[in-house]
Amino acid sequence: MTADSSSRKRLFIKTYGCQMNVYDSGRMADVLAPLGYTATDTPDDADMVILNTCHIREKAAEKVFSDLGRMRVHKTARENTGGELIIAVAGCVAQAEGAEIIRRAPFVDIVLGPQTYHRLPEMVARAQRTKGAGVLDTDFPVEPKFDHLPPPRADGPTAFLSVQEGCDKFCTFCVVPYTRGAEYSRPVAAILREARGLVAGGTKEITLLGQNVNAYHGGSADGATWNLGRLIRELAEIDGLARIRYTTSHPRDMDESLMTAHRDVPQLMPFLHLPVQSGSDKILTAMNRGHTRDDYRRVIDTLRGYRPDLALSSDFIAGMPGETDKDFAETMALVEEIGFAQSFSFKYSPRPGTPAAGMKNQIPEDVKNERLYAVQALLDAQLTAFNAACVGKTLDVLLTHPGRNPGQIIGRSPYLQAVHVTADKRNIGTIVPLKVVTLESYSLGALWPEGEQTMSA
Ligand code: SAH
Ligand code: SF4
Ligand code: F3S
Repeated sequence: MTADSSSRKRLFIKTYGCQMNVYDSGRMADVLAPLGYTATDTPDDADMVILNTCHIREKAAEKVFSDLGRMRVHKTARENTGGELIIAVAGCVAQAEGAEIIRRAPFVDIVLGPQTYHRLPEMVARAQRTKGAGVLDTDFPVEPKFDHLPPPRADGPTAFLSVQEGCDKFCTFCVVPYTRGAEYSRPVAAILREARGLVAGGTKEITLLGQNVNAYHGGSADGATWNLGRLIRELAEIDGLARIRYTTSHPRDMDESLMTAHRDVPQLMPFLHLPVQSGSDKILTAMNRGHTRDDYRRVIDTLRGYRPDLALSSDFIAGMPGETDKDFAETMALVEEIGFAQSFSFKYSPRPGTPAAGMKNQIPEDVKNERLYAVQALLDAQLTAFNAACVGKTLDVLLTHPGRNPGQIIGRSPYLQAVHVTADKRNIGTIVPLKVVTLESYSLGALWPEGEQTMSA
């Protein structure tokens, strides 16, 4: 089918959860483009809505059902005026609760898991043929979806690139191994092709994605298996690719080749998200993390030896079953000791089917809340201190998009801080050394350098 003007339709995608979902939403839009779908940023005028969902915590999963209620109102309104609205639920809630969605929300037309979105065009056709009977596709196909997807188009100075999917680690609290399936690494050649295409389209910074990105072990053309360190070194050879990042990593998979890449590859940005979850060895064991607090410290020491200005980020869970005041104090002590530039912390949320949900020693809600507030306050103070220390310094900022205020543009520092500056929009896509002059709650304000052109050549 071609996209002539008569077949032009509007597609609204709402993305929940992690960066993998952001990447997947982009790819679903690419897959539907040949059917005439173009993106819209509101469900009001949409012909199709995709909710790309997250199952990681109960709140995230339940939100989908309330959003579906709203989508139902749009669907009824469209149908009353003779139109139609296809509603699809994708992502990890779809994978985990596909049948439940169709039962609780029978007006949903399509339910598809994260591994089958290359089949969306046929699902749309089937949904249109069998109006009213929901189409459910939550397989884990043998042939990976990546083999069937069109190459993504560059869409601005920064881009995500999925290199690895799924997880074999089975942390006891986590649904990802069930929703995304077994670990899979894309072949080197496909990744290099995608990266070169993005750079040719103007992308300056690529973030390599994977639920366990540093477990990457992709096949290369010469028959060898490459690790992430090797892949990053090869990507750094691409002319015009100024910056490389990767997320999310597991402490167990920080091998020497990846750690030395932080010393050897100037394009690899000095910022690393390396979740530790807890500072207590007892809790790390209950979580089945496969590393101790000292293992984590050692990795950080080595990395800081290679790249002294490396800024760190982590995830923390407060109130894992069995966590005592002493265990939690060990988490706080580890945070104090390491010092994080940015972090995410969550209250433990029991997830159906995971071993931790069945553990006897669940923590009462009020204790979980108290611990979450405490760790968040400490992490917030560290974030503010890190940002405050940047005031007065000059940072290389990749200018990425217009800001909310007129004349303002927003960019990214090497340490993944948002930086805003007043400058001509035509500078977007360039990297400019900017002097940081102000500290806002979660961003930095900078001055345009005197004498620099205010426009890229
Ligand atoms: N693959 C990454 C993280 C994936 S999920 C890793 O191994 O670290 C993102 C974060 O959500 C996790 O790091 C964890 O902190 C949090 N999380 C996962 N399951 C959770 C649960 N049941 N309750 C609360 N937080 C959870
Ligand atoms: Fe979940 Fe653990 Fe896998 Fe991360 S490593 S995705 S937390 S099971
Ligand atoms: Fe959520 Fe699935 Fe990502 S559960 S965090 S969208 S892998």
